[in-house]
Amino acid sequence: MTEHESPLGVGIVGVGGIALSHMAALRAMTSAQLVAVCDVDAARATEVAHLQRCTGYGSLEELLADDEVEAVIVCTPNMTHEQLGVQVLRAGKHLLMEKPLALTSDGARTVAAEATARDLALAVGHSHRFSDQSLAIRELIDAGDIGTPRFVRIVMNGGWIWPGWQAWMLNPELSGGHSLHNGVHLVDLASWWMGEPATSVFSVGQHATSEALEIHDYLVMELGFASGGSAVCEISRGERPRSTGYLELTVVGTDGIAARTWDAEGVLAWTDAGLTAWSVTGSADRTFVRELEAFVAAARREADVVPPLSAAIHAVDIAVASEESLRAGRTIEIGAPA
Ligand SMILES: NC(=O)c1ccc[n+]([C@@H]2O[C@H](COP(=O)([O-])OP(=O)(O)OC[C@H]3O[C@@H](n4cnc5c(N)ncnc54)[C@H](O)[C@@H]3O)[C@@H](O)[C@H]2O)c1
Repeated sequence: MTEHESPLGVGIVGVGGIALSHMAALRAMTSAQLVAVCDVDAARATEVAHLQRCTGYGSLEELLADDEVEAVIVCTPNMTHEQLGVQVLRAGKHLLMEKPLALTSDGARTVAAEATARDLALAVGHSHRFSDQSLAIRELIDAGDIGTPRFVRIVMNGGWIWPGWQAWMLNPELSGGHSLHNGVHLVDLASWWMGEPATSVFSVGQHATSEALEIHDYLVMELGFASGGSAVCEISRGERPRSTGYLELTVVGTDGIAARTWDAEGVLAWTDAGLTAWSVTGSADRTFVRELEAFVAAARREADVVPPLSAAIHAVDIAVASEESLRAGRTIEIGAPA
């Protein structure tokens, strides 16, 4: 933002759980400002608008008609993304879409095409790209310290964090299943660190909390890459105790290893030159501020969107294939991304 430019006016659609993280990030920023919120629960929109000192609307149409809204963050359940995304872009607003971009490969391409045709910024909320540890690992790779990545292992395991048993996240028709709901984060990191899209996926899952679950709360996706590299992505919401939450990140390269072990705050790099350590906390506050700052820069045409749209589409393609692999019990090959 130049010193004469006013903050980007942002509207948030859907003021549930994740909207709180975006609102907190916006409060910490000067380059963007929350000007309006809307929710199908109009009373909640009014309450949140009062707390956030912005305008509250009961419908997206009203929010989109507000000239102060230059960009929109869509924070609604996954099955609404394609339709709401197209609606936002057709109104001429830049869009930060919470992940996943859509529930189907065609849907992801439909939203992306709308943004491209209108020359609007479309970013997808792959927030893990913006965490301290993810960025530190990418920096290590870019510096050439560990050589060419050939294996990635990501473990994001935790206990049950979802609300009631009827919550939309647990319905595969509404969330897309765990591959689309959370798996896309891991697919995006793995492809980003490997420096190439995956070309195959084989997934296994468990209904760890209850056999009655329709989604796999414990899920492992094994990705193959054209270079011969591979990745194992493990995501769970079925750990005990329920307060469990741990993250392990490993990138094995031709010349060394970058790792964030489960009990560490920082990232370690082992190479023939010795051991180096990055002290990073992975604070979630900075993650969402960074994500939004990148989006504002793209809306201002100062930078490309992060992640690139092709990566966000790729994450959907792989996640859809992962759900197919769970059903079919075999590896699914994926064509080159469009
Ligand atoms: N980036 C991340 O790390 C992260 C974390 C959690 C959730 N998410 C994503 O954020 C999105 C929202 O998840 P959540 O956990 O906040 O959900 P939530 O159920 O807590 O909140 C969703 C809100 O959207 C509202 N809503 C539903 N349909 C609407 C519509 N058509 N128009 C306007 N409002 C509507 C609901 O009333 C609710 O207030 C999902 O896409 C999810 O995948 C991302």
